[in-house]
Amino acid sequence: MATHPEWIVCQFDLRTQNRERIEMFDALNHHGFAMDLVDKTPTPFYYYDLDVLHSTLEEINRHISGYPFMVHYALKANGNPLILKEIANHGLGADLVSGGEIKAAIQAGFKPQEMNFSGVGKTDWEIRLGLSHDIGCFNVESIPELEVINELAGEMGTTANIAFRVNPDIDAHTHKYITTGTADDKFGINIEMLEPAVNHALQLPNIHLRGLHFHIGSQITQMQPYVMLCQTVNKLLDQFEQRGIRFEIINVGGGLGINYTDPDRHLLPDFETYFNTFKQHLKLRDNQLLHFELGRAIVGECGSLITRVTYVKENRNKKFVIVDAGMTDLIRPALYQAHHEIQNITSRENSREMYDVVGPVCESSDVFAHDCSLPLTRRGDIIAIRSAGAYGESMSSGYNMRSLPQSVFHHCK
Ligand code: LLP
Repeated sequence: MATHPEWIVCQFDLRTQNRERIEMFDALNHHGFAMDLVDKTPTPFYYYDLDVLHSTLEEINRHISGYPFMVHYALKANGNPLILKEIANHGLGADLVSGGEIKAAIQAGFKPQEMNFSGVGKTDWEIRLGLSHDIGCFNVESIPELEVINELAGEMGTTANIAFRVNPDIDAHTHKYITTGTADDKFGINIEMLEPAVNHALQLPNIHLRGLHFHIGSQITQMQPYVMLCQTVNKLLDQFEQRGIRFEIINVGGGLGINYTDPDRHLLPDFETYFNTFKQHLKLRDNQLLHFELGRAIVGECGSLITRVTYVKENRNKKFVIVDAGMTDLIRPALYQAHHEIQNITSRENSREMYDVVGPVCESSDVFAHDCSLPLTRRGDIIAIRSAGAYGESMSSGYNMRSLPQSVFHHCK
């Protein structure tokens, strides 16, 4: 049977979870990108290819099948309800960092027992919310937090499942804002403080210590930091085992990077090498479960930010393509100097020009790319900013009173 591509346009308000309108577009005749869709949908919008997401999830499940591995999706990468549903339907767990994310995960159908809740500053209501759903694990980042969780669990007549988040002091060689596992980062408990913390947790009446949790950073493309993490974990497991302590769960966090420079040739991350690294280097004990918390690697490549050229402007030294998307819709280039591929998907010109591609926001950092080679570009052309599925929509803001772009989903039935 022939596949039937469809486009769904949704307007969600991520904060209130209100879905305002849904339209289906028959795009049987679409030519690469359905232009009728662009005509009907105000730009900018997020475009999500659910087929890419589906293939990514299938690939993950293929690599973990037969191993005591469980992948938790890090909702912070993208909390769009349709994306969450697709991921929950593939049997992944959820990695959460706020009460809002707990609610969104419940609504999308993730199982509470397969939810991990991380974060250095969990507030009382967020802890109570997690306890009321009896979530799988609180990843505890400090002793004061441990004590509050114990107290609140006691008040509620329940027991809290926890793991300690350990800061393994490993440099993941990534951008300084997204490295998290070195000794001076705010995250986790320093490794030398772990043993007293474990002893303390074992004394507390309302705490069930299940495991150890690690996360060394994000957009990691070399396996070496993960090998070092495995070695650190192996050493810790040996040390604790000598004292008769065995953990049910080892959680190695997330961080697997994607290819921002050539997304079309690398739509799926190299999950084989990633999971093999842990299969080879981590010495899991019998009945131990290995948890992963991937965000970007799951949703990064399925999304693009689609935007229209408002003006092409020439200054003394530069040509600017001014688009209607801004740093409010994708902040990564402005915040991390991140590279995203930029494609003019409507130009039929053969000649190319160098442009700075910029947004309309009143900040000089509102730049998507400097000196970007594009086919000759004109007002009205449609630009795709690629690999925007992770940390695009979820980091959007209303600065300059701009509204949240719509989301458009493509999938084949
Ligand atoms: N687990 C923990 C404890 C985390 O802090 C993070 C991400 C993840 C898992 C998921 O990491 P991933 O697999 O997505 O790399 N806004 C930045 C990325 C911040 C990542 C924060 N923590 C960016 O746009 O690059």
